[in-house]
Amino acid sequence: MDGLSTAAPGHILHCGDCLDVLAGMEEASVDVVVTSPPYNLDLRYASYQDRRAEDDYLTWMVTVATALRRVMKPDASFFLNISGSPNRPWLPFELIVRLRPIFALQNHITWIKSIAIGDDSVGHFKPVAGRRFLHHAHEHIFHLTGDGNVALDRLAIGVPYKDKSNIARRGHPRDLRCRGNTWFIPYETVQSRAAKFNHPGTFPVDLPRWCIRLHGKRPAVVLDPFMGTGTTLVAADRETVRGIGIDIDPVYVAIARERLEAETPPLLRAPVPAG
Ligand SMILES: C[S@@+](CC[C@H](N)C(=O)[O-])C[C@H]1O[C@@H](n2cnc3c(N)ncnc32)[C@H](O)[C@@H]1O
Repeated sequence: MDGLSTAAPGHILHCGDCLDVLAGMEEASVDVVVTSPPYNLDLRYASYQDRRAEDDYLTWMVTVATALRRVMKPDASFFLNISGSPNRPWLPFELIVRLRPIFALQNHITWIKSIAIGDDSVGHFKPVAGRRFLHHAHEHIFHLTGDGNVALDRLAIGVPYKDKSNIARRGHPRDLRCRGNTWFIPYETVQSRAAKFNHPGTFPVDLPRWCIRLHGKRPAVVLDPFMGTGTTLVAADRETVRGIGIDIDPVYVAIARERLEAETPPLLRAPVPAG
């Protein structure tokens, strides 16, 4: 028995190893997977040891991806957020090549965390020591699907046209165009590690929100097998879809539950569709 608990409203949080929990889940029951697994970069999690032999790590990730494929519906989307580091730059590419027999790589999105445009810069700049490497300002979001042919709701995260004359001239139904595959999502400014729940590897809530919207189908069940502090569940809650989260660490599961409980009371929100 894993540490299953329900949280506000209709979401399910599991405390356990994601492979065990996934094995007990119904086949073809999930619409969207959004996750950021441990990157094997020696980050300091509460209990998980983020440093395996590289081949062990990649083999484990393939096993997890295979288990995810089983619980995904045929038209589901899997958004896999991962990054290397200056010293371990090959990791995301090694992984994605290993996933090729299991998934089609439908989109490759670059998550930009900070950027300089001309002399202006936006987002948080984390200096890198030494002179060899550039500041690390982006991560990967691999959008994996069963056959590479899943229709998306691109305008759900669209941006308004700069040149409004394009709308009538080209017959666009709305003042929105596709955002493209570079997503600028900066971290919120925080003053302490505690404000990031003392977790070393969270992503901003907008990242899973945009993934859920882009996939587009409602009602939906959203799964994060490495939920950490529950950011994907918070996103699912704000998008009024059902979330399932798994983490091996009870400390993080407790934080995820607290974050969900701190969200707007359900009665003030649109009803959560049954999935
Ligand atoms: C990169 S973090 C995810 C952070 C999350 N996106 C957030 O915003 O908080 C990866 C998480 O995977 C968890 N983890 C490691 N091994 C696991 C396993 N076998 N099953 C489930 N969770 C695991 C770690 O405890 C860690 O919280």
